[in-house]
Amino acid sequence: MERAAAAGKLRSIGLSNFYEPADFDRLVNATTIKPAILQNETHPYHQSKEMQQHIDQYGTVLESWFPLGGRGNTQKLFNDSTISSIAAAHGKSSAQIILRWHLQAGNIAIPGSSNETHIQENFEIFDFSLTDEEMQQLTDLDKNQRFADY
Ligand SMILES: NC(=O)c1ccc[n+]([C@@H]2O[C@H](COP(=O)([O-])OP(=O)(O)OC[C@H]3O[C@@H](n4cnc5c(N)ncnc54)[C@H](OP(=O)(O)O)[C@@H]3O)[C@@H](O)[C@H]2O)c1
Repeated sequence: MERAAAAGKLRSIGLSNFYEPADFDRLVNATTIKPAILQNETHPYHQSKEMQQHIDQYGTVLESWFPLGGRGNTQKLFNDSTISSIAAAHGKSSAQIILRWHLQAGNIAIPGSSNETHIQENFEIFDFSLTDEEMQQLTDLDKNQRFADY
């Protein structure tokens, strides 16, 4: 990948699925270009805070895959009582609350959808903000629980 960058074929390099700080360090220490992003499973039940803080020293930003829990898992997050009550308070959907949480937590969320209404809804998260107390309530949902097993 570094040879491709030197040849001008790509501008930046990203990594995916590094969950242990030591593994990330090993790769960074063996290479020259710092990763622009680290794409890991990240959502309210698996917030990846330790990795997010660890990679910050390299200027690497966390990108959240399964930002809504992933296909087959979204209802577990959407029906979470904390998430749904914050959603009701703002007149927003649970999906929008989760995406707004990612934004305010400093994560790059990449929600997947094949539904035009959902895609539109997922963009409508810039006209409100979560309070510090709501952010803390969402932070408190972390269970270090992944939905995927890789
Ligand atoms: N690097 C990796 O190892 C890795 C692993 C997995 C995924 N990814 C990437 O991560 C991205 C997201 O993955 P994902 O799509 O599986 O996870 P996701 O975004 O957490 O979940 C997608 C599910 O959420 C639903 N959804 C999206 N917006 C919604 C809304 N506003 N209201 C209700 N439901 C909504 C979708 O259904 P509808 O289609 O009905 O909207 C779909 O079932 C993709 O680009 C994927 O390629 C990367």
